[in-house]
Amino acid sequence: METLNALPGWVKDRLHDAGKLADQLDLAVYLVGGIVRDVFLDHVRMDIDLMVVGDGIRFAKRLAHEHQGCMTPHSRFGTATVAFPDRTRLDIATARSEHYEMPATLPRVSPDTLEADLARRDFSINAMAICLNTPQRGMIIDPHNGRRDLENRTIRILHDRSFADDPTRLFRAVRFEQRLQFRMEHRTEQVYREAINAHWIDRLSARRLLEQVRQVCDEIDVWPIFKRLDELRVWQAISPTLGVFEGLESMVQSIDRYKNMLDTPQDVWRLYLLALLSPCDPDTLNTLSERLKPDRQLKEAIQDLPVLKAIAQRIKNKDIENPGDFYKAVRTISEDTILFSTIADQEDTVRQYCSIYYYEHRHIRPAINGLVLQDLGIPEGPMYSHILETILIKKINGEVNTEQEERRAALEIWKDREQQVGK
Ligand code: CTP
Repeated sequence: METLNALPGWVKDRLHDAGKLADQLDLAVYLVGGIVRDVFLDHVRMDIDLMVVGDGIRFAKRLAHEHQGCMTPHSRFGTATVAFPDRTRLDIATARSEHYEMPATLPRVSPDTLEADLARRDFSINAMAICLNTPQRGMIIDPHNGRRDLENRTIRILHDRSFADDPTRLFRAVRFEQRLQFRMEHRTEQVYREAINAHWIDRLSARRLLEQVRQVCDEIDVWPIFKRLDELRVWQAISPTLGVFEGLESMVQSIDRYKNMLDTPQDVWRLYLLALLSPCDPDTLNTLSERLKPDRQLKEAIQDLPVLKAIAQRIKNKDIENPGDFYKAVRTISEDTILFSTIADQEDTVRQYCSIYYYEHRHIRPAINGLVLQDLGIPEGPMYSHILETILIKKINGEVNTEQEERRAALEIWKDREQQVGK
């Protein structure tokens, strides 16, 4: 079990349990995929993938039963997730082969051997297995020379149809390349560029494409991936004017600096995407929204990018001169767009306006309300919303600070209005 020694204790225990159960059931079970690659690279990770030659779901059910876990099957692919009481998890798959009836569509899968399962995978470094059954425990199965490629720091596809079969691999190749500081091997890069020129990316569904973009933006170091995808013309394959631009690197760095301080770290990827899309014109953004079909919140954030740009121009033109003016201009804009500009806008003044709005002013409300206005003797009517709105803007601009001042200001606003109506 020497290969597995570097793994955390709980992982070793789980693998030991899985191996023992497989022995009892007379099934072969292997550690596969990213975790094997990461074991050899001494990288720690939490996602553990097992492969069973035979019925993976049945195996998962037994394993869950014996360890008071909970099993969720995904029958279409013969996979299952087992969640244990200590909150650790194992993903278990049935060894399978894949047959792509049409490039870039989801494959037809059928149970198969270990070798067939490894041969359907994306890159040699992800196509290794470690046996968990007792007699051969720790034995490495590496039919595609993944370890050699790990040593040479190389990303290599297993066959020339790889990117056409599954264009998500165009993103995966660059993620692994840049994350691990590897390089695509010559032939792989050649096939990669051919796949881009053949527009295989167009065949990806919106959901799969957006998921790849999300995974790119969820990597620890996003900028090198953005840059390399640009060099390989991947962004341009999604939309002709999309790509890196002057200033993007510093935007990405700003998001890098802020990302650990945000309340919703799971949404940080959206900020990187907004940075990438920020120079696009409204038509391009509409087309991209159609292509990526983001959820409503992200769609609004994307569509508000040019709206905020127009507001930034109004700041430059001195048409917006105080936080109250800014509040009125942005209050219907997506908060994600404002957060993005707070962190990454290239203009200092815009960043400052956005920041104070995002962290303070959007939460401010007047201390007084309709009841207080009644109390002050102001007759009920549409006037109330005008008064409260004016008070809010005055409060944002620091012209009223206490409830007393708000009450006085309310009476003044009312009297002014009455006089104007009387004139
Ligand atoms: N895989 C593949 N082709 C894909 C996606 C996945 O061949 N398009 C295979 C690879 O063997 C991969 C494994 O399925 O290692 C697990 O996929 P995933 O969890 O997405 O990848 P990881 O390699 O674990 O990547 P990460 O480190 O980013 O989690």
